[in-house]
Amino acid sequence: SVPILTIDGPSGTGKGTLMQLLAERLGWHALDSGALYRVLGLAASRQGLDLDDPEALTPLAAALPVEFQAGRVLLSGEDVSDAIRTEDAGMAASRVAAHPGVRSALLDWQRRFARTPGLVADGRDMGTVVFPQAPLKIFLDASPEIRAERRYKQLKEKGLDANLPQLVADIRERDARDRSRPVAPLCPAEDAVLVDSTQMSIAEVLDRVLEEVRR
Ligand code: CDP
Repeated sequence: SVPILTIDGPSGTGKGTLMQLLAERLGWHALDSGALYRVLGLAASRQGLDLDDPEALTPLAAALPVEFQAGRVLLSGEDVSDAIRTEDAGMAASRVAAHPGVRSALLDWQRRFARTPGLVADGRDMGTVVFPQAPLKIFLDASPEIRAERRYKQLKEKGLDANLPQLVADIRERDARDRSRPVAPLCPAEDAVLVDSTQMSIAEVLDRVLEEVRR
């Protein structure tokens, strides 16, 4: 079976950066599962669908014309890599991700990423639901304040609008929804290694995880 390393945790903990660094180091494939929910949220918003209506969203999820290509995310061939990174897209993602039917429609698509020589998968339920057999699972956490600050810097670097108090509020709202949904709620797998990155640089987190990989 293909080696899989899962990284789960709330937003703004550095999961995405960590996944990319690990995938490069190990020469493995990478799965940004959050991008999938973001694309679905974007597609649904564009079609004027109700983001809280599973009847409308599940068929769209099952036939979502999404492709990941050379680090870019395509929706019906259109490069939406930047459009899916806004705070609104994150909130829409969290709303569509709350529906059980939507989540199961996206399962096979995600599992197909497990290919040789290996996979680093980043999300909320990689270790609990999508790849429960993964031999190494990381749960990355950090305080809400530091996560909002990191997100603020990220958005500013990209030249996007950012308001720190609003970001703290958004993070709390998104966390609450992700943790309380009935299916695949955000929580560490029983066999996950917990890493709190509040006081750690990304280089330190990378070293910590590579230490686990070498075990
Ligand atoms: O970048 P950030 O960590 O803020 O978000 P993301 O990983 O792109 O995920 C956006 C939203 O998609 C999350 O708030 C979750 O509600 C949802 N999501 C999920 O339900 N399951 C996943 N495996 C990944 C993301």
